[in-house]
Amino acid sequence: MFTGAGGGLLRLRRSTTSSLVLPALIWRLMVYYDSLLVNAKQVSPEVECTGVARFSLVQGSTFRVGDKMAALRVVVLSGNGRALLSTSKTTKTLTAKMSFATLPRSKKIALSTLGVVTAGGAGLALMVHQSVKASDLELHPPSFPWSHAGPLSSLDHASVRRGYQVYKQVCASCHSMDYLAFRNLVGVSHTEAEAKTLAEEIEVVDGPDEKGEMFTRPGKLSDYFPKPYPNPEAARDANNGALPPDLSYIVNARHGGEDYVFSLLTGYCDPPAGVTVREGLYYNPYFPGQSVAMAPPIYNEVLEFDDGTPATMSQVAKDVCTFLRWAAEPEHDQRKRMGLKLLIGTAVLTPLIYYMKRHRWSVLKSRKIAYRPPK
Ligand code: HEC
Repeated sequence: MFTGAGGGLLRLRRSTTSSLVLPALIWRLMVYYDSLLVNAKQVSPEVECTGVARFSLVQGSTFRVGDKMAALRVVVLSGNGRALLSTSKTTKTLTAKMSFATLPRSKKIALSTLGVVTAGGAGLALMVHQSVKASDLELHPPSFPWSHAGPLSSLDHASVRRGYQVYKQVCASCHSMDYLAFRNLVGVSHTEAEAKTLAEEIEVVDGPDEKGEMFTRPGKLSDYFPKPYPNPEAARDANNGALPPDLSYIVNARHGGEDYVFSLLTGYCDPPAGVTVREGLYYNPYFPGQSVAMAPPIYNEVLEFDDGTPATMSQVAKDVCTFLRWAAEPEHDQRKRMGLKLLIGTAVLTPLIYYMKRHRWSVLKSRKIAYRPPK
C-alpha cells in the first residue's frame, strides 16, 4: 500500500514541479530585472523597511533622498505616510530619473562622440557595401505568393510530390541531394510502399560479403539519394568546369530562397545588346554575374506529371521549389504548428505572470518614504 501511494505522490509532485518551473523561471528573471532598477534607487543603508502596503495596481511614487540627507534617519511607513509628510518641516525629494541632461559634462562629450562615430561607421560600411556589390545588372527576385508563405500555412504536399518527380527526372542528372534518404519521403510525399519501390529502382554498392567482395543490391528505404557523379572533380569535368551544388539545402543557402531558385530556373533570356556571354555559359539576369554554367534545365512539357497536372515551365519550377523548401526545412509544418501553440500559450501566460509580478511587488512599489526630523 505504501509503495503504491508513495509512487503516486511522487509522480504528482514531479509533474507539478515541472509545470511550475517555467513560470517560476520567467518570474525570477522579471524580479531580478526589477531588483536591478530598485537597487539603483535605494535610499541609504539606514532605510528601515517596516511597511506592509496594500496591494495596488497603481504604482506609488518612489523617492530618492538627497545625498546630504542620507545620513539622517529615514523611516518607511505603511500606507501613504501622509501624517509625517504634512509636518511643518519640508522634505526635499528627488526622483531617481537618469537622463542625458543629468550626466556630467565629460560623459556627455564621450557619449556624443561615441554616437557620432557609430553612426558614421555604419554609414561608411553601407556605402562600401553598396559600391562593392556591383549589382547594377543583377535582378533581385520578386517575392512570389507561395502557398506555404503564411505564418500558419503548411507546405503543399501534392506539390512536394511533383517536385520530387522533377528533381528525379531533371535535376538529379547533375545535382546531388546528399542529405535526403528515401525514408524521408515516407509520410510526406509518398506512402511507405511507394518509397520502397522508388528505392528499389536504384542499385547500391554494399559489402563486403563473406568473400570480402563488394556487391550491388537494390536500394532500401534507409539508402540516401544516388549521386550523379562519384566526386566533385568528375562533376566539374562533365559541366565545363562548373560544380553543380548539392541541392539539399539550396533554398536556405541562397539569398532570396525559393523566390531566387524559381527566378533562376525561369529567368533565362537573350543577353541585352552589348553583353557577350562566354562559350559554355548562359545569360541569366538573376544569377550573380549574369552568366551561369547551368543550361536552362526546364521548359514547357519537360516531363509529364504522374498526377496529370499540366507541366508548364512555371508549374515545374514552382513544384521543384516547394520540394526544395521541404528538403531544406523538413520541420516546416511542425515548426508552424508549434509556433501557433506557443503563441496561444504565451497569450494566456503573459497577463497572468504580469499580474503576479505586480502583486508581489505592490508592497515595495507603493511604499512612501518620509523624513522624520531628529528630536
Ligand atoms: C546539365 C546539368 C544540370 C541540370 C540538369 C540542372 N543543373 Fe542546376 N546547375 C548546374 C551547374 C553546372 C550549376 C553551377 C552553375 C554555376 O556555378 O555557374 C548549377 C547551379 C544550380 C543552382 C545554384 C545557382 C547559384 O546561385 O549558385 C541551382 C539552384 C540549380 N542549379 C538548380 C537546379 C534545378 C532545380 C534543376 C532541376 C530543375 C537543375 N539545377 C538542373 C547544372 C545543372
